[in-house]
Amino acid sequence: MDKIIVLDFGSQYSHLICRRIRESNVYCELLPYNTPIKTIMDLNPKGIIFSGGPASVYEINSPKPDKKIFELNIPILGICYGQQIIVDHYQGKIKRVDNREYGNAVLKIKDKNNLFKNIQADDIQCWMSHSDAAEILPYGFDILAETDNSISAAIGNAEKKIFGIQFHPEVVHTQNGFDILNNFSHIISEAKSEWTMNNFIDSIIENIKSKIGTEKVLCAVSGGIDSTTAAVLIHRAIGENLTCVFVNNGLLRQDEEFHVMELFNETLRIPVKYLDAQKRFLNKLKGVSDPEDKRKLIGEEFARVFTEFAEEEGPFQWLAQGTLYPDVIESGVSRGPATVIKTHHNVGGLPDWLNLKVIEPLRDLYKDEVRKVAKILKIPPELLKRHPFPGPGLAVRILGELSDEKIRITKKASKIVEDVLVEDNIYDKVWQAYAMVGDDKAVGILGDERIYGHIVTVRIVESIDAMTADWVRIPYITLEKISSKITNEVENVTWVTYAISSKPPSTIEPQ
Ligand code: XMP
Repeated sequence: MDKIIVLDFGSQYSHLICRRIRESNVYCELLPYNTPIKTIMDLNPKGIIFSGGPASVYEINSPKPDKKIFELNIPILGICYGQQIIVDHYQGKIKRVDNREYGNAVLKIKDKNNLFKNIQADDIQCWMSHSDAAEILPYGFDILAETDNSISAAIGNAEKKIFGIQFHPEVVHTQNGFDILNNFSHIISEAKSEWTMNNFIDSIIENIKSKIGTEKVLCAVSGGIDSTTAAVLIHRAIGENLTCVFVNNGLLRQDEEFHVMELFNETLRIPVKYLDAQKRFLNKLKGVSDPEDKRKLIGEEFARVFTEFAEEEGPFQWLAQGTLYPDVIESGVSRGPATVIKTHHNVGGLPDWLNLKVIEPLRDLYKDEVRKVAKILKIPPELLKRHPFPGPGLAVRILGELSDEKIRITKKASKIVEDVLVEDNIYDKVWQAYAMVGDDKAVGILGDERIYGHIVTVRIVESIDAMTADWVRIPYITLEKISSKITNEVENVTWVTYAISSKPPSTIEPQ
């Protein structure tokens, strides 16, 4: 399959470049900037993109790619710092600019071939973030576009098919940014549109079949989109040699266990084993209030339950995981020159002697691509819209020690929050919405009686990727509905508060 590679020089947007190229139906991989030339040649990319990054090319030890990359005769696009690498390599001159450009600028296009082909406007908005710029262009390079502050906003050597841009085409603030990247992948690099989710599904099913053969796979499902999609793909490939297991740890959303079993047994028609481990988990968590201790104990207990199941029902040779692409790749530069590529093990801490090989059918996909795959596989749309739910479940939404009463309150109150948001057409517009509870109590009046009940805090946030989040300015009328339903319907709750801190400095979950 034709592909483009992005070399990551540490920009926060590197993944975004990769996603945009994939949106143009060309497969794209993100690699550390210092990937050996041999690896790059083996991948045989149609084009190479250098991402931006925080360094300056004139600093000692600034990250540079292998010089031989310029001799491969493969088209190159350098973005921001990536452009400076090109200028530096071809002996132009980079200098620190007096007017650091940050934010929107007007890009005046001078040359409508190649990068700017088929873009109607002569001036477009672009998004800048740099303090260095090319002062002297290298021999053979022309100016393709400029801004008021920068005569080298876009440069190129059409013969060598090497281009550099100072602005960021991958962010939404750059008009026609998608067209510019599309022109690089399709027109300049001549990559074919072969990356579609239908093609992916066909090839991954074949791949799973040939990898697994007649061996047996074990897959823990949570009812979330990633593990469900992974399970459906594997089931299509190997049928009954897949065993799915669902662990009820007693810390799930209200009625979640029924919904998950129904989803698998009735809608997807994939058999799933149900393990009721509520007592085991809650016993382990007795008397524990430290958030990290809770997480650790839950992870360990999960591994224990899972191991016992594997021993009793096995042998299994494979463990399936719903790992996604961003978990597989980590930026090399932001963690120093030594590249860190890590695999997240969603089912952590399984003993080595189980000897399970890991299969990760979604490891090449971004979340939005998983959603597309899930849709094609006819996974119900409600699941695609379901808010994310943390692995340790309600344990991180209950402050202090867990108790049956606090679990009952968060479950019921969170259900009310979700139901009211669905009713008022808000649920699909927010990232997460739930109720948390701690040990703080406040006085309330029930009939003629004064009672000392729990304080419940409602948290509703919007976010793009959970890295940052803002509290949602919910209409008062919806908040009022939530509050009165909670105090009326959830026993022993007297007060409802609304969390109005953003991330940062707060986090989405309270623990
Ligand atoms: P925070 O609270 O760090 O959460 O702002 C960011 C996103 O991650 C989810 N989250 C978790 N997910 N295991 C998970 O699988 C966890 O331990 C965990 N902690 C937080 C959280 O729900 C939010 O979407």
